[in-house]
Amino acid sequence: MDRFIIDGGVPLCGTVRVSGSKNAALPILIATLLTDDPCVVENCPTGLRDIRTTVRLLESLGKKVTVEGASVRVESTGSLKTQAPYDIVKQMRASVLAAGPLLARFGLVRVPIPGGCAIGLRPIDIHLKGFEAMGARRIADQGDIIMSAARLKAGPLKLRFPSVGATENLMMAAAAVPGRTVIRNAAREPEITDLGAFLTKLGAKVSGAGTANVTIEGKAKLSGARHRVMDDRIEAGTFLIATAATRGKVRVAGAHAEHLEAVLVALRRAGAKVRVGRGWIEIEMRARPKPTAIKTAPHPGFPTDLQAPWTALMTLAPGFSKVREAVFENRFMHAAELGRMGAQIAVSGGAAVVAGVEQLSGAPIMASDLRAGAALLIAGLAAKGRTVLQRVYHVDRGYEAVERKLAGLGARVERAR
Ligand code: EPZ
Repeated sequence: MDRFIIDGGVPLCGTVRVSGSKNAALPILIATLLTDDPCVVENCPTGLRDIRTTVRLLESLGKKVTVEGASVRVESTGSLKTQAPYDIVKQMRASVLAAGPLLARFGLVRVPIPGGCAIGLRPIDIHLKGFEAMGARRIADQGDIIMSAARLKAGPLKLRFPSVGATENLMMAAAAVPGRTVIRNAAREPEITDLGAFLTKLGAKVSGAGTANVTIEGKAKLSGARHRVMDDRIEAGTFLIATAATRGKVRVAGAHAEHLEAVLVALRRAGAKVRVGRGWIEIEMRARPKPTAIKTAPHPGFPTDLQAPWTALMTLAPGFSKVREAVFENRFMHAAELGRMGAQIAVSGGAAVVAGVEQLSGAPIMASDLRAGAALLIAGLAAKGRTVLQRVYHVDRGYEAVERKLAGLGARVERAR
């Protein structure tokens, strides 16, 4: 298993470019199941493990996939299968997004129920309720869910919580169902807007994506399309926070202020100088951060995916900072590992109180999930001395060539196998 060896204490300086968004690319690649025509998805972070898993998922369902650099071409080879394999779903929960397109097209789908993961239980009841409201019946069988419907019907849907995955799954299903579906209390994440744009290119009409009410005018037959995936706002936010933690100055190309408003507010409150332009954000931070409370929330709130990195930053702020996690129930696995580096974090329920220290010290530590891994990487970059971060395969799920990008900013970080 790979690990990162980080010699910390170097302020990050320079320019870095983010990759295409993992969380936008996943549903868009899966949405290619909606058509038999070829699709080309560009600006895909094809170096990521989750994207490779998605390619395997599409292939296992009967698509031919060709990856060339950041471009992914998906073609039909004949008929599609309607059963997603367990060994893929257990590696990547987002595989459950195949349910919407397959159910809408073929009236039948069988997917393993994804289990919980390091950050929470993560049920899929909102997805399933939505399919039922569209006329599907479900039965559970040996760990799988089988959904069937002679024909899904368009209509109004209301989500009990603005789940990103459920919104995407239902949008994809609705795209292949003639008639108008309105999803109320939909997730408003920018990745939803990107998926809406792709579905529109396939021939469905999607409006309101990015607001709480998404309307989809579906079509029985959708065609192929070419699409450029949006830039990764979470990767961008991670570089901004890492720069603040190491007291450097970095321009993040491919960072869009409109996707990161809550994060930029928090960074400015913490004392960072932030400048924004078209398609870039620049940050400079030369002093210790000021203690700054955050609470995660669905978009446009502070993103849960940047909570762990933010906690790492706050370990260096003099005084007390409060970090509340309101999206997932168990997303503080990084706290104990940060403690090994000298951080003082008390976690109780969905909140952490961080008592800042002057400096972290390098230590052997271990990533438990993707964003916890990013937080530990940031802590290692800021710490005095050497940190060895184990289980970087978690980090590889969501950060493409992260050690090369960080080295380009002056960091001393190496991958050891
Ligand atoms: C997406 O996960 C992202 N993943 C996550 O990114 C991100 O943390 C999350 O949205 C929130 O922004 C992808 O896009 C592939 P949700 P998703 O459904 O869709 C509960 C990362 O690090 N819920 O909005 O699974 C759920 O348990 C990852 O890149 C239900 O109760 O998130 C959670 O507490 C991790 N029932 C909350 O809603 C459901 O049916 C938010 O989940 C669905 C969700």
